[in-house]
Amino acid sequence: MNEPNHTATDTEDRTSLAGVILREAWYFAAPSQAITGGKTTHKTLLGEPVLIGRDKSGNAFALRDTCPHAGTLLSRGRFDGQEVECPYHGWRFATDGRCTLIPSQTKDQRPQPADIRAQTYRVHEGQGGIWVYFGVSPTPGLPPQVPVLGEKLGLHLSMIFECNIDMAVSGLMDPAHGAFVHRSAIWRTQKSIYEKRKAFSPLDAQDMFGWRMDRHQASSNSRAYRLFLGGAPQTEISYMLPSTRIEHASTGKYQYCGLTACTPIDAGRTEVHHAMYWNVPGGALLKPLVRSFARRFLDQDRRAVMDMVAGLQFNPPTMLVRDADQQTRWYYKLKREWLTAASEGRTRRNQIAPTTLTWRS
Ligand code: FES
Ligand SMILES: [Fe+2]
Repeated sequence: MNEPNHTATDTEDRTSLAGVILREAWYFAAPSQAITGGKTTHKTLLGEPVLIGRDKSGNAFALRDTCPHAGTLLSRGRFDGQEVECPYHGWRFATDGRCTLIPSQTKDQRPQPADIRAQTYRVHEGQGGIWVYFGVSPTPGLPPQVPVLGEKLGLHLSMIFECNIDMAVSGLMDPAHGAFVHRSAIWRTQKSIYEKRKAFSPLDAQDMFGWRMDRHQASSNSRAYRLFLGGAPQTEISYMLPSTRIEHASTGKYQYCGLTACTPIDAGRTEVHHAMYWNVPGGALLKPLVRSFARRFLDQDRRAVMDMVAGLQFNPPTMLVRDADQQTRWYYKLKREWLTAASEGRTRRNQIAPTTLTWRS
């Protein structure tokens, strides 16, 4: 193949799709543990006000967090484990959005509760996370799942990146920043950069649309893995649009999964969630250490993204190089396909071919 190293089309897609938020998709909303029984909380997700709660039987639910009457945040009202009561005039809503009471209305006045509904969102809870679906598809499939250890959530942390979703996800598929951004004694040093060759395959299911770095022996410069899993693991990494990266590392006996999911708060802020699962004995004791390490790591990514955002404010020309930026190319290519398929009312087609990429990191 004699393609030039970078082409105008690549960056055109990147510019024209930057900040576009994909719908008909699951987004990670909150870790399960953050939503306790009989309580509700407000989240702004994709620019929409969302009330997330858990009823007294333990089921998570989500409603649009604005009262159909005058717009008050319903999450500011009371919740008895079954119905949400608006704090302004006391209209009540069941967790499925049915209005059950309008205190001000006489029997012969309109509207009556049966005339009113609060908008609901589809919710999926599993593997320690609550996901919310944004879209109208009656068959949304499932949100991304870690392949093993789903019940073994070790810890969750999240951080807000002051940027759009595309900037926030950029580091998740970038293989070349580790030695510079995550420069740290325990992790990697710049001296340990060497050539990598990795095989990639397309993921072409409705609820797994992206690509996978095929299972391979983790590089010998992954010291953190060696320390944590006690040996060099086999690793597989999947990226699924819109915004989830799943890494699975296994030494056979010991396993680790990391799930990173980016959820737009609005056009200029993105919450980056990181959930970690493992079955290493004594792992619970390591939690504080792992948490502080993961937080530091995520903050290094956040700062790298902020530096990029600061430069991009001047609209500089940018480029995508081969092969280190190939996954970023794929991301925009699939994002384009996601939007085109939706506007044409057809299923998405993944046109990535199985490929081997070579870079130094
Ligand atoms: S604003 Fe909610 S009851 Fe009036
Ligand atoms: Fe990173």
